[in-house]
Amino acid sequence: MSKVTVVGAGKYGSTTVQRIAEADIVDEVVMTDIVEGLPQGLALDMNQSRPVVGHRTKVVGTNDYADTAGSDVVVITAGLPRKPGMSRMDLLEVNAGIVKQVTEAIVEHSPDAVIIVVTNPLDQMTTLAAEVSGFPRQRVMGQAGILDSSRFAHFISETTGADIQTVKAVTLGSHGATMVPVPSQCRVGDKPLSEVLDAETIDDLVDRTRKGGAEIVGLLKTGSAYYAPSAAAAAMAQAVVEDSGLEMPVCAWVDGEYGISGVYLGVMGRLGADGVSAVVEVDLTESESAALHEAAVAVKEKVEDLRQIEL
Ligand code: APR
Repeated sequence: MSKVTVVGAGKYGSTTVQRIAEADIVDEVVMTDIVEGLPQGLALDMNQSRPVVGHRTKVVGTNDYADTAGSDVVVITAGLPRKPGMSRMDLLEVNAGIVKQVTEAIVEHSPDAVIIVVTNPLDQMTTLAAEVSGFPRQRVMGQAGILDSSRFAHFISETTGADIQTVKAVTLGSHGATMVPVPSQCRVGDKPLSEVLDAETIDDLVDRTRKGGAEIVGLLKTGSAYYAPSAAAAAMAQAVVEDSGLEMPVCAWVDGEYGISGVYLGVMGRLGADGVSAVVEVDLTESESAALHEAAVAVKEKVEDLRQIEL
């Protein structure tokens, strides 16, 4: 039986569960949370949509990790979302405690799972989950790059008027200030982005992408984005469940690629049943490569902040 667990039945978690269930790619999606009744109520509601939507995947809502046992994939969304004016770093302390506790429970019940972390601050939380789990690094990854690339693609499509499905956008690096957009890899139809938009406009779109999460937080007032984020997390879970080998941006353990080592960083990765089977190096311009190296240094510094916290 194929099974995905999503930890955290908040906005991000529950929409991820809904997307995976509606994709009809696994037998069961388990949703767990510390709040009693929340995952159960949402699961009941989602299951009742099956005759209308037409999928068979069953959703199980629970507060008990025993129900998550034997999961192929576990998506960790548990944590507090960013509030207006709050930086990802502010979240570090509280979410580190949550992610540690959740990871320990996952390892106990699903020792062979692939873990996808989405809780912010993403780079540190992915590093923490990998360390706490003791899993091979390739079986623990974070979601950021698909979302950032997708936001960038949206802005390019809005600005150029091009069909969104013909826009290819790539971002690497870290989630946040050191996100590395890769305009040289971006295409609008069969044209390079630089032939469609001038450098200044591209810079503006990059800036808006970098602040994409904060823009939504500012509008919502409470909570953070979850529609595009859950689409990204569900796409990663699907690639693992289907062992598809699809290449996508992912926060993965980098060990020598691009001349960078020993850090979880946003790169292109090939996703399959064992997690990130390979980090795929893409051609970068000199400035893109320099930005990726800077991002690696910044993430390593942020991981040091994690060491200051007593867990
Ligand atoms: N175990 C399980 N669930 C937990 C735990 C825990 N130890 N601690 C908190 N939760 C649950 C909360 O009860 C809540 O239902 O996590 C859920 C978080 O949901 P929301 O507050 O709606 O937050 P959401 O928008 O889903 O974001 C979750 O994703 O994008 C990131 O920054 C965001 O870190 C945040 C995470």
